[in-house]
Amino acid sequence: MSEILKAEGLSKNFGGLIAVNQVDFQVQPGETVGIIGPNGSGKTTFFNLLTGFFPPTAGRIIFFGKDISRLTASRRVLQGMVRTFQLVSVFNSMTVWENLVLSSIRFQKNHTSFSKFLLSPANNEGIRMNCFQAMRTVGLESKATTQTAELSYGSKRLLEIAIALSLNPRLLLLDEPLSGLSDLEINDVLSLLNRIKKNLTLVIIEHKLSKIVDLVDRLGVMNEGKFICEGKPDLVLSDKAVRECYWGKAGAER
Ligand SMILES: Nc1ncnc2c1ncn2[C@@H]1O[C@H](COP(=O)(O)OP(=O)(O)OP(=O)(O)O)[C@@H](O)[C@H]1O
Ligand SMILES: [Mg+2]
Repeated sequence: MSEILKAEGLSKNFGGLIAVNQVDFQVQPGETVGIIGPNGSGKTTFFNLLTGFFPPTAGRIIFFGKDISRLTASRRVLQGMVRTFQLVSVFNSMTVWENLVLSSIRFQKNHTSFSKFLLSPANNEGIRMNCFQAMRTVGLESKATTQTAELSYGSKRLLEIAIALSLNPRLLLLDEPLSGLSDLEINDVLSLLNRIKKNLTLVIIEHKLSKIVDLVDRLGVMNEGKFICEGKPDLVLSDKAVRECYWGKAGAER
């Protein structure tokens, strides 16, 4: 099968600043792709364009053969393009289970209200099964009735990934899923990602390349809004332009 995602000439300008600059990018089915790059290099903006949070200044996005450039963010979720955020984005005032169910209801084709859902659980067996399965995949089933505010940051991150999984992604985009976590929590999330990547196509933004080098099949390096290098991790790591961008000219020549 050919690529499931294709970005063509994708650009985003904020006033005079070109955050994403004519990017061409493809993802093949089943791949785990890493995107690395220094602060402000355009990684999150690129995700925002793919997922419909910002309209592009130029370019288009093809997902499973269809041009989705004009679809809203929620329509893209319904097509199977699901993301997580650089800063964990869950509702602290709800339980783990409520967070999962609410998100699933939000993205139903026939949108219904949370209270209606609670009153007619029998009609929503599919949603409940998806949510339960996702909660079990990330290992949070024992915390189903825990108030989310009481979770560690690492468990909140797992919950956010569970929410994404419950939405039946065909492509999951994770923006720095390891950021802000302790070493132990990083291991938990990495082991989860290693498990889910067997059945899912993943694109993962990470700041420190050493953390994801063993996880990904392919790495893309962004700098100043462009991919300056793409390929197998070991080739990318030995690339002179990449080394310069990370460690400066002196580091690149070591
Ligand atoms: N909504 C916005 N309005 C104006 N400028 C923005 C906006 N979002 C991002 N930018 C700018 O676009 C550039 C790219 O930012 P972006 O957040 O995409 O970088 P990043 O690679 O994700 O960085 P980090 O590693 O710090 O998360 C930065 O200069 C940033 O200040
Ligand atoms: Mg970012």
